[in-house]
Amino acid sequence: MTKSTKVFCISEKRPNKKKLEYCANLIRKGKLVVFPSETVYGLGANALSKNAVQSIYKAKGRPTDNPLIVHVSSIKMAEKLVLEIPAIVRKAMGTFWPGPITFVLKKKKIVPSQVTCGLDTVGIRFPSNRIARRLIEISDRPIAAPSANLSGKPSPTKAKHVIEDLNGRVDAIINGGNASVGLESTVIDVSGDLPILLRPGGITLEELEKVFGVIDIADSNAKSPKCPGMKYRHYAPNAVFYLFDGKNENPKMNRLKLKFNSLRKKGYKVAIIASKESKKIINEKYHDDVFVVGSRTNLLFLASKIFNVLRKIDRKGYDYILMTTCPNDGIGRAIMNRIRKAATKVIN
Ligand code: TXA
Ligand code: MG
Repeated sequence: MTKSTKVFCISEKRPNKKKLEYCANLIRKGKLVVFPSETVYGLGANALSKNAVQSIYKAKGRPTDNPLIVHVSSIKMAEKLVLEIPAIVRKAMGTFWPGPITFVLKKKKIVPSQVTCGLDTVGIRFPSNRIARRLIEISDRPIAAPSANLSGKPSPTKAKHVIEDLNGRVDAIINGGNASVGLESTVIDVSGDLPILLRPGGITLEELEKVFGVIDIADSNAKSPKCPGMKYRHYAPNAVFYLFDGKNENPKMNRLKLKFNSLRKKGYKVAIIASKESKKIINEKYHDDVFVVGSRTNLLFLASKIFNVLRKIDRKGYDYILMTTCPNDGIGRAIMNRIRKAATKVIN
């Protein structure tokens, strides 16, 4: 399957209407259009066409038991896809939409089973990125879209990443610059009595608890059919990735440095992902191999850069990546969720 992929540069501040109309027309014709969103780039197709949806799985090599998120440009559009929106969910939508959160609700028949992999629920998201919103509005269709990476690879936060993975596999790619959040949306199942956090993301558990009160947290190791996406290894770089876990930063860094030295001695190319504070305690002669992702105190920055840095290290041909864990709360919960899945091994 080789397609000729058109790339369009569109600015989020002033989205070019002609280019958007061209891409919207592709969506209406059942074609594949990659678009930017505030979380990560999405590989989009008309959510109401089963053929279009099927071609998404093919293009990214996605297992066909992992359902897709449907993107809308209003709550009204969401209402057409789901059986009901309970009052508390409506309140949460009002609080967090448009933005980085997906609500899983009971679906209407109009949503093809190819989108949901046979589940009776569908995940719906109203993105805040203006290019994504305008694309949905102009297509006048809900757009089904997984992250626009080859299955198993780190999610794309720049058009360059999409081109690496999907050039020749999609009809168009909209380059809209860097994704601002940089991690995929929070996924919360609100189809039952108790809300269940299926995937931590841009909207934090703490923020959700303010609206919902008690929230159940899905066990990310469980092979439950409730959260099909969780059973796959994700976000994996080519390099072997060791994650150093533990309560305090300095002992973790010390263990990381020991590993770094022993791998280097064996002749391997080893990269370290670290904060600017941690970089200071690494011998200066190795600083070229240290990839700094902001300060320890700015986890939002780390979230926005983590997928990019994993891809960058792969491009440079490293054999190993070493990193320490960050605190598991706020946005840290989403970061940890992704890097634990990306890691080859967690070292305690
Ligand atoms: O930020 C995002 O969510 C990005 C952008 C493009 O919107 N999309 C994204 O899609 O991350 P994807 O396909 O990479 O991840 C979708 C996740 C998967 O873990 C999937 O299992 C879960 O959402 N999901 C989708 N529909 C579901 C449903 N009906 N029930 C349970 N989980 C669902
Ligand atoms: Mg994905």
